[in-house]
Amino acid sequence: MPAGVVVDCTVGRGGHTLAIASRLGPDARVIALDADPANLDFARDRITRASPLCPVECVNANFNDLSDVLDERAISTVDFVLADLGISTNQLLDPSYGLSFQNDGPLDMRIDPTLPLSAAEVVNRTPEKNLADLIYELADERFSRRIARRIVEARAIQPITTTSELARIVRSACPWKKGSVYGRREPIDPATRTFLALRMHVNRETSHLTRLIEQASARLSPGGRLAVISFQSTEDRIVKHAMRGLAQTARALEAFETLTKRPIEPTDAETARNPRARSAKMRVLRRTGCAS
Ligand SMILES: C[S@@+](CC[C@H](N)C(=O)[O-])C[C@H]1O[C@@H](n2cnc3c(N)ncnc32)[C@H](O)[C@@H]1O
Repeated sequence: MPAGVVVDCTVGRGGHTLAIASRLGPDARVIALDADPANLDFARDRITRASPLCPVECVNANFNDLSDVLDERAISTVDFVLADLGISTNQLLDPSYGLSFQNDGPLDMRIDPTLPLSAAEVVNRTPEKNLADLIYELADERFSRRIARRIVEARAIQPITTTSELARIVRSACPWKKGSVYGRREPIDPATRTFLALRMHVNRETSHLTRLIEQASARLSPGGRLAVISFQSTEDRIVKHAMRGLAQTARALEAFETLTKRPIEPTDAETARNPRARSAKMRVLRRTGCAS
């Protein structure tokens, strides 16, 4: 039975962790993190009930703090690190997270409750230009300036506090015919990109991802792998450039190779079983040199 240390940085509902732990033996160890205490509790219960041979420790932590989590456990190197980015379906559908404009809820969006700013605070306090920039940069929204202007006009009348209010304001700033976006056949709601940008901003997703790759790559054992699954282009760009950068840094004791020249994408059968997987891209980095 394989041994070694595995870190699942995003345990979510426990699916990947269980699949991994059930393939490892009692000498292996899985550390499973999630920033959301509710998902972590769910996963812990599920994993405990499944009682895999390999011990699994569930830790409520942001993967931005990966090094601290490992240091606290006196773990110097790790054989496999997995991060399945973004949010889980239950988080999207639960109105209390304020992530969806389909189920009205308080405009919060934090999956890590220790983060300081809710989406409502961002939307009601950020200067118009900064708001436009973040919507453009994080979600490639071409109507970002019009959306930011409309938000600023609306909040001057009263603070924006719910997901449905924000969605209505964003839609009113975009040219949109029902069933299409911007007059083209694109079956997404015009509020989708703004909601994505705000979620990424509130949860500091790009900076946390960059820090995760730095910390995880520094802790890989020789032959150890880091696999990152992303669901949108901004994240995939970060993963691609960070992994390529590490692979090009040819230091004898700290050498890496990318195992995925192109990202691994789901097959048609997988997408048919799980439509939310359709935009998934997995990239894998392997440490070839020895840790110093
Ligand atoms: C796509 S789901 C993972 C699903 C999981 N692979 C499974 O099999 O159920 C993403 C999970 O990552 C968590 N998450 C997102 N960003 C995080 C971060 N910076 N640190 C720790 N957990 C995070 C979310 O709370 C969510 O539970």
